[in-house]
Parts: sequence; structure tokens; C-alpha cells
Amino acid sequence: MSVERKVVASKVAVITIDGPSGAGKGTISRIVAKKLGYHYLDSGALYRLLGLASKRHNVKLTNIKALSTLAEHMDISFTTASNGDFSVHLEGENVTRELRTEDTGLLASQVAGFPEVRVALLKRQQSFAQGPGLVADGRDMGTTVFPDAPVKLYLTASAEERASRRYKELLGKGENVSLPALVEQVRSRDERDMNREASPLRSAEDAIEIDTSSMSIQEVTDRVLNLLAIKGYVPHP
Ligand code: C5P
Repeated sequence: MSVERKVVASKVAVITIDGPSGAGKGTISRIVAKKLGYHYLDSGALYRLLGLASKRHNVKLTNIKALSTLAEHMDISFTTASNGDFSVHLEGENVTRELRTEDTGLLASQVAGFPEVRVALLKRQQSFAQGPGLVADGRDMGTTVFPDAPVKLYLTASAEERASRRYKELLGKGENVSLPALVEQVRSRDERDMNREASPLRSAEDAIEIDTSSMSIQEVTDRVLNLLAIKGYVPHP
């Protein structure tokens, strides 16, 4: 496994962006990938897809063998339209919206707790490392999936701020939500992600941490692009 990882890492530039949900990883990863012309891996989407696939195929969350088989073989695709819209398909059906619901997020964090499932998804994730480069967004990109990545970032923010961002996003979509309930959900997801045995959420030792609590998307983007410029990935702004 380590040999395979080294080959992948030496050929393709990989930038890992890890952190808890709502820290801004997805938004920043997409902006950076676009700016560099790199591929983008939304690893959380793989766990979400597995959660959805298990529901559709009536696979119980206790049946780890069946879940791992599904993880290895589920028919999924990610596409980016010419206008930049990103869509995800499961067995030919567009599940982009369903993928982002709180229910699917909960299913994802349940299936993500099984080491066998994580191993089954490892190669699928590593296969996204294609030239010229990859921005990989998740919880364990820098620690487990791409441990040799030359650039590792860890984005974080307070639970209140992350819940408040989600609250505004859901209100904008016309959903009726309670802010205290969202703070609770964010805390319990963190708890599960940080305290599981298999690849818990943590910053890689060589990752650069950015607390985005009081930063705008533009400020975080500028900070990340500056760091990448220092490392020679983009021209200095
Ligand atoms: O990032 P997102 O919220 O889509 O991830 C959904 C869930 O998938 C997370 O709460 C986490 O439990 C799991 N996940 C993971 N490892 C990753 C990405 C996501 O365990 N690399």
C-alpha cells in the first residue's frame, strides 16, 4: 500500500484540505482546484453516496461485509458542467440534492465509522489523483489517503459559527430549521468523527491550520492562495 501511495504522490501534485463539517473546505477546495486547473475529490460525497446506496439496497448498517462490497462496487459518477455546476449520480440517477441533506450526512458518518468500509473506499479515493493535480477535501486526506501530499491544510471554525453558516444556507433554501438544534448536530457529528477508531478527524502533523471562524470566503481563499504561492503552486497575487 505504501509503495502505491508513493508512486501516486510522486507523479501528481496533491493538496489535501481536511477539517470538520462547515469549516469551508468544500467551497475553498473547489475555488483552489479551479484556479490551479486541478481535479477535485469530495471524499465526503463518497461516504454520503454509500449511505444512500445502502438505504436503496436495504443493506443494514450492521452488515459490514455487504457495506464494504457496496463501497467498492457502487456505480457513481461526478460531473462538472461547462457553467461550473457540479453533479453527482448514483446508478445513473442524479442525487446531487439528496446527497446534501442532514439525513444523508448522518448516514455517511455512520458508515464512515467502519474500518472495513474506509479500506474499501481507499483505492477509489486515490484513483482521483490524476495529472496535473488534485485538491482532496475530507477528514483524513492528509493523514491516511494522501499522507505524502506536499501541501496539507486543515480548516476549522467554532461549532457555533459552523452551525450558523449551515442555518443561513438552509434558510436560504426555504427550510425551517432551529439554530440550537443545528449546533447540537454539528457537535455530535464532530464527536463521532473525532473519536472513532478508524481514521479519526485530526490535523496531519505537517498540515497548516486555518481557523475560518471570523474570516470571509474571500479572506480564506486569499490566505490559501498566498500559502500556495509561497510553495510555488500559483503566481504571487
Ligand atoms: O464532508 P461531508 O459532510 O460531506 O462528510 C460526511 C461524513 O462523511 C462526515 O461527517 C464524516 O463522518 C464522513 N467522512 C469521513 N472521511 C472523509 C470524508 C467524510 O469519515 N474523508
